Amino acid sequence: MTAQAALATPSTLDAAALRADFPTLRRVINGRPLVYLDSAATSQKPQVVIDRMNQFYAEEYSTVRRSIHLLSAKATQAYEDARRTAAQLLNAPETRQIIFTKGTTEAINLVAHSYGRKFVGEGDEIIISATEHHANIVPWQMLCEEKGAHLRVIPVDDRGELILEAYEKLLTNRTKLVAVGHVSNALGTIHPVEDIIRLARAQGVPVLVDGAQAAPHMPVDVQALDCDFYAFSGHKACGPTGIGILYGKAEWLERMTPFLGGGDMIETVTFEKTTYAPIPHKFEAGTPAIAEAIGLGTALEYLRNIGLAAIAAYERELLDQATARLEAIPGVKIVGAARRKAAIISFTVDGIHPHDIGTLLDQEGVAIRAGHHCAQPVMARYGVPATARASFAFYNLPSEIEALGAAVEKAIAVFAV
Ligand code: ALA
Repeated sequence: MTAQAALATPSTLDAAALRADFPTLRRVINGRPLVYLDSAATSQKPQVVIDRMNQFYAEEYSTVRRSIHLLSAKATQAYEDARRTAAQLLNAPETRQIIFTKGTTEAINLVAHSYGRKFVGEGDEIIISATEHHANIVPWQMLCEEKGAHLRVIPVDDRGELILEAYEKLLTNRTKLVAVGHVSNALGTIHPVEDIIRLARAQGVPVLVDGAQAAPHMPVDVQALDCDFYAFSGHKACGPTGIGILYGKAEWLERMTPFLGGGDMIETVTFEKTTYAPIPHKFEAGTPAIAEAIGLGTALEYLRNIGLAAIAAYERELLDQATARLEAIPGVKIVGAARRKAAIISFTVDGIHPHDIGTLLDQEGVAIRAGHHCAQPVMARYGVPATARASFAFYNLPSEIEALGAAVEKAIAVFAV
């Protein structure tokens, strides 16, 4: 029996029991029990995911969709089962609307190439937000440069909330796509993607949602959202690295040109002309990350069994506790005070560089991220070169927040000497 079976009710979770599923969380770092508060960078992996991938490599390993032998048939089934699990997690209408990518970055690049090359032209505009991760900025800049199109940016207020009145003014008949993060990785803001999509929809503009920081932490329903594309990464969702998901509306995916050309994405090839396979295979050239996809399927089942609503509620409690604990420390400033936040806290400490905070916390066994979080425009907006960032998951405990607070106090004391 895994610790998952120890869940009390579907709406609550027993983090202490669930932790037992994660071998890395038993590590001692610098003589202290690991306090892992870097899940926004990447999540830890439960034993079931590690076991499933090991089992695939040790006993079931084969390719998918190319061979007719038994192992290949079984690998193909497991790979397609993982696709189905991802479709169910997002409530996608059809499994063929789920494309395996290397991660969120590749998913966004896929849309930038395949949608952008076909549907964006000179003078057109793409709207992003001021809080985006570089992965949801750079591909659009590259596209705009290539096409002579323009990037427009929804501004953010001092709390870290997007200014929707400004967004409404940015939406024009030149807008060809809106691409926004569901949750800011640097500030933790949960953006009002429902409103952003509704307003875009009213103008017939498609919307891509970067769900890297949302899909592992809250229920996501792409049909209720009515977004056109939704992307997330496996490694932030208790799954392996090198695998991610792009959901797309079939009406777009079918009209888009392929991103990568190669094996398995074709229907027929002659030297004169190639015709493409139906979706999703049109977008999955080459031998895919088979073990990773299967491992991701197991990870998503694991999250679903805990319950995304229960995860969101529990992580909200952690966020409230951590916010109160850090705010009470003189010299600590939290960057980002949105009313709707996921369990991510960016902070600075007067007189101490965030990298030094990160190093001193590590000596206490507390793992956080320090830097610009691949969101340099966000740092510029709030006038800081970098922040320290603690990010939480359902396997974190209230006692770990106390350890974070104590470690920050100790770091301040070290610098005070
Ligand atoms: N996007 C990841 C983070 O925020 C890497 O840390």
